[in-house]
Amino acid sequence: MQIGVLGGTGPAGSGLAARLASLGHDVVAGSRDPAKADAVVGEIHERWGDRVATLRGGANADAATCDLVVLATVWDGLVATAAEFADALAGRPVVAMGNGLVKVGREFHPVLPAEGSISQAVQAAAPDAKVVAAFQHVPAAAFADLDHPLESDVVVCSDHDDARETVLDLVAAMPNLRAFDAGSLLHAVGIESFAAVLLSLNIRHKGKGTLRFLGLEGYGA
Ligand SMILES: NC(=O)c1ccc[n+]([C@@H]2O[C@H](COP(=O)([O-])OP(=O)(O)OC[C@H]3O[C@@H](n4cnc5c(N)ncnc54)[C@H](OP(=O)(O)O)[C@@H]3O)[C@@H](O)[C@H]2O)c1
Repeated sequence: MQIGVLGGTGPAGSGLAARLASLGHDVVAGSRDPAKADAVVGEIHERWGDRVATLRGGANADAATCDLVVLATVWDGLVATAAEFADALAGRPVVAMGNGLVKVGREFHPVLPAEGSISQAVQAAAPDAKVVAAFQHVPAAAFADLDHPLESDVVVCSDHDDARETVLDLVAAMPNLRAFDAGSLLHAVGIESFAAVLLSLNIRHKGKGTLRFLGLEGYGA
């Protein structure tokens, strides 16, 4: 599958792009500045060599026309980016992985827009895209460290059944990640705001906690 990552130069987008390339996908790490994308991708190639041979840099506009698109810009740039590329994103599965977060003392607080969640605001900004919320709880550093398997569950939700299935399959094919179908995009409110709880737990407990469900194994959706 050809996968484009808008904002593919940041820790989360570049890490996910590298991880997906290492699994054999053709990946475009996009940027508002293609030269910046080339520089970031060059560093990834230097570090991982042939393991990321299918990763290249490009403009966000290149990334937006791939089979599946990931929006990995800063969270407060996600909606404007979705609006800017709304035409190109029409009809495509578009993963929104942003969490609106603000640090207050020793904790993070969630920032949710009037639409309910950033993912829902992205869907409103690109109404013909098939927006899927996913990857909110996977730390960027874990994506980027290809020598270690990811340790997390990924909650996936969307109002588009086909796009949700595509992303569930993509996640399930990533070693050690488990994908769970949470139904409609409405649930992105809980998914995004729980990221603030998870980060706050990690600060208070000085840990690297991630998300794992018990009791869901072996039950069909
Ligand atoms: N960091 C994590 O552990 C983590 C985990 C899960 C989810 N997320 C989510 O993943 C997304 C990316 O996180 P990150 O930590 O990698 O973010 P980041 O480094 O702060 O930003 C990612 C990229 O966004 C682009 N960008 C900056 N300002 C922008 C604007 N105004 N409009 C459009 N693009 C802009 C930049 O790329 P160019 O300058 O190259 O265009 C930048 O490299 C966020 O929405 C975050 O909530 C992060």
